[in-house]
Amino acid sequence: MLRFALLWLRHPDNKLSGPPKPIRCLVSIVQLSKISRNELNQGCVMSEKFKVGKLADVPPGGKLLVDLDGRAVAVFNVEGTLYCIDDVCTHDGGPLAEGEFHGCEIQCPRHGARFDVRTGKALCFPAFEPVATHAVEVKDGDIYVEND
Ligand code: FES
Repeated sequence: MLRFALLWLRHPDNKLSGPPKPIRCLVSIVQLSKISRNELNQGCVMSEKFKVGKLADVPPGGKLLVDLDGRAVAVFNVEGTLYCIDDVCTHDGGPLAEGEFHGCEIQCPRHGARFDVRTGKALCFPAFEPVATHAVEVKDGDIYVEND
């Protein structure tokens, strides 16, 4: 863990706080070294992949509502690339997969909020919060979605 902290502080892309200051670095290293492996594991969110269907079930422009280990999610095909979001509108819980899907946008059937299925971003009123996204992988014609 100590090695990780030193590497992070020295990484050239670490421009958030400018050059590391000696005191701040020392405090960070001490704090990190106190974290036990159990504490690290408890802080991690483990994700699992679930097979949810066949690629043939979701042609370009298509959508597929699936149960992801008890969580309703929807898979969308945007010009051959699959994306997955929660099937719950962030405005008032509307079933997004029942809405109209054009290009990369799904429109909530309840009050009309639109979301970009590639990012989950809310595109218009009355929704402001993004909808959760899930990583999608296609392997041997099967679709796998990550539940995190
Ligand atoms: S529940 Fe989706 S826009 Fe209101």
